[in-house]
Amino acid sequence: MAVTIVIGAQWGDEGKGKIIDCLADSSDLIVRFHGGNNAGHTVVNKFGKFPMHLIPSGVFNQKAKAIIGNGVILDLEVLENEIKMLEKAGVKLNGRLYISPRCHVIMPYHKLLDRLYEQAKGKGKTGTTGKGIGPTYADKVSYNGIRLADFLDKATFKSKLAGQLLIKNKILIALGEKPLKAELVEKELYRCFNKIRPFVKEVLPLLLDASSNGSRILAEGAHGMFLDNDWGTYPFVTASNVLASAITAGSGIPPQKIKRVIGIAKAYTTRVGQGPFPTELFDNNGEILVEKGNEYGTTTGRRRRPGWFDTELIRFTAKINGLTDIALTKLDVLDEFKEIKICTGYKLGGRKVHYEDGDVNFLSKVKPVYKRLSGWRTSTRGITRLNDLPLNAKKYISEIEKQIGVKISFISTGEDRKEIIKV
Ligand code: GDP
Ligand code: IMO
Ligand code: MG
Repeated sequence: MAVTIVIGAQWGDEGKGKIIDCLADSSDLIVRFHGGNNAGHTVVNKFGKFPMHLIPSGVFNQKAKAIIGNGVILDLEVLENEIKMLEKAGVKLNGRLYISPRCHVIMPYHKLLDRLYEQAKGKGKTGTTGKGIGPTYADKVSYNGIRLADFLDKATFKSKLAGQLLIKNKILIALGEKPLKAELVEKELYRCFNKIRPFVKEVLPLLLDASSNGSRILAEGAHGMFLDNDWGTYPFVTASNVLASAITAGSGIPPQKIKRVIGIAKAYTTRVGQGPFPTELFDNNGEILVEKGNEYGTTTGRRRRPGWFDTELIRFTAKINGLTDIALTKLDVLDEFKEIKICTGYKLGGRKVHYEDGDVNFLSKVKPVYKRLSGWRTSTRGITRLNDLPLNAKKYISEIEKQIGVKISFISTGEDRKEIIKV
């Protein structure tokens, strides 16, 4: 059958976990293909509430296989804890969770280096999650990475670790840190790896079989379009490609199998960390979005920066990902506003400009053009039928759809799996 990809259409935290959990029930296989535990995807369903960092959020459909593809980078301790958390909640993983041996491992020195680079940059820091993501991907592309496959043979692992520590310890010492001891690093990592080992298996045959035998594959993107390393607001981005097309490199699924690309967009905008944000709000409206939307990071607990919905951004996401559908989330968070603004485009020096016209300096200067809409001032929480939405909420959704030119197929009205309108 077909592959459906779900990607974040903004700066992350759009509610991907929630939507993936909903879609997983009609999927046979769910795969993650990039990023690491900088991702924090919240799932709320009959099993409880879970912050998912590495294992696909669709894992709660126990009839489906859950796969961590080669593009994902792994903090073994976080993975071990996530496995424990799910098993404790009654989610069975044996025989249905598979982890690619090609996944790169986040080493203790990567986490230290992440912090040290940020410190050194001072005011110009990226505002990373501090999970070692940038340094791990940097080692991957510069042929210095250590993969799960290396752990399968201890001699290989020891020799690679020794080689890396030779370089990394010099850098750590130069930056005022203590050097790492190989034996301790090895002991701690193998303690976690031994728990994970039963799930490590080449996943390509499984994925290729599934993509040609009629199985329904759901691919879970992490982060958001504007954190993409190439097309996001560089250098205020993450280290992986967030684009839907990253699925090919990050899992091995051939591009022509992709039939549906769903962009998840919050009914307003948020961003964590530094970087330009044209519709950012610094007033009481922003406060309402943060408090009502509980906009605090799933991974780091940091306050997310709030702003109005920006159609210029989502049009760009639609354009370069070939979005077939949009899932609009957190509509209920807008319930109490008297007036809601939608950004319809940007202007600079009186001229219409587009996201792709410039870099971060350009984006920090553009002026959003707003359309004002009346709010609905009544609760939409938990509504499951389009017709039950207040008229002004329907108008808001139609305006977004018109501005972007992509169908809104799902509207989320609460954090629980059940709180969704399928249009
Ligand atoms: P992700 O990283 O894209 O999976 O999103 P996060 O889980 O980091 O952040 C989204 C937050 O919004 C989580 O706390 C979700 O439980 C919550 N959420 C998702 N959809 C809705 C919704 O429609 N309404 C409300 N009120 N909360 C939602
Ligand atoms: P999910 O999947 C929000 C941001 C960080 C920082 C930048 C680089 O939950 O939507 P990194 O640690 O990746 O080197 O940090 O990217 N970032 C996210 N922001 N949600 C995420 O993931 C993010 N993943 C990375 O805040 O600005
Ligand atoms: Mg998140």
